[in-house]
Amino acid sequence: MPTYLGIETSCDETAAAVVKDGREVLSNCLLSQIDIHKQFGGVVPEVAARAHLETVNQVILEAVTESGLSFQELDGIAFTQGPGLVGTLLTGMLAAKSLAWVYDLKLIAVDHLMAHVAANYIDSEIEPPFICLLVSGGHTQIVYFRDYQNGEILGSTLDDAAGEAYDKVARLLGLSYPGGAVIDRLAQEGNKAAFKFPEGVVSGLNFSFSGLKTAVLRTVEKLPKPLPMNDLAASFQDAVCRVLVRKTILAQQQTGAKLIVLAGGVAANKTLRQTLQEQSPVPVHFPKMGFCTDNAAMVAAAAYFCGKPVDLDASVYSRQVV
Ligand code: KG4
Ligand code: ZN
Repeated sequence: MPTYLGIETSCDETAAAVVKDGREVLSNCLLSQIDIHKQFGGVVPEVAARAHLETVNQVILEAVTESGLSFQELDGIAFTQGPGLVGTLLTGMLAAKSLAWVYDLKLIAVDHLMAHVAANYIDSEIEPPFICLLVSGGHTQIVYFRDYQNGEILGSTLDDAAGEAYDKVARLLGLSYPGGAVIDRLAQEGNKAAFKFPEGVVSGLNFSFSGLKTAVLRTVEKLPKPLPMNDLAASFQDAVCRVLVRKTILAQQQTGAKLIVLAGGVAANKTLRQTLQEQSPVPVHFPKMGFCTDNAAMVAAAAYFCGKPVDLDASVYSRQVV
């Protein structure tokens, strides 16, 4: 019955959480840096690293206190090893190493993408095999998980990630960073048939979102002001969700998987959740809202299912290890 502390500092959220057996959250603390980065329209790595350094100890202390356990009662300390920003990852890893050393606890490295997938295990009974649509700010992939540890990438984006496309389109519409949730909200009030935006034409299970972003830009340039924001958001969202849903179901059919799961920040998207659920021939599972975007509960959950025990000489990585 292991209970792990998870620490997440891969980008702009400083987070710590304690999770029992990978599925039961005892505490979940998060300090977002969004207000700091908003003024720059995106995450500034050096500023992010500094902010993590200032707050990580406090967030960890809060998470352990809230869990009702002491550090000595934990079974291990997990940290996000990558992919992410090297400077920010180092902060979380060093905090984890120090605690593991001081309290003589197991040190566990967790892959950020595997952690997003593991967010699905929290408060649920689901288990592999399944097809996972992993959609975040940095990645867009369809992955077939035969077991908890190994995922086979069946398709990826050739350019922008889905979340990145959301953030770039939000920016060109003059909306605040990060734009995904804002566009999603506006889209609920808009007409998705108002504009015909193209799905990227890419073979197989791969994706491309850069053409869609350019199509929105060209349309916006020709439109009189004020822009019909709700309709633009709804039409853009429809184009993104259409292709994500279509290819995910195609992957399900090719593999014969009996379950589809959604993961990553874009998994919070209302239209994506709804459309996939309506169109999928097999059950669809997604993480609870607060566990879609970066958080530490998913890190502590992943530590249980697919974490890697490491020594104090472990390092971080910025790009995905395939
Ligand atoms: O997984 P995440 O927190 O960080 C990365 O690992 O990248 O994902 C953040 C991304 C951002 O691009 C954000 O705009 C997007 O997820 N996002 C959304 C929604 N909520 C967050 N995109 C679409 N609809 C949403 N409701
Ligand atoms: Zn993430």
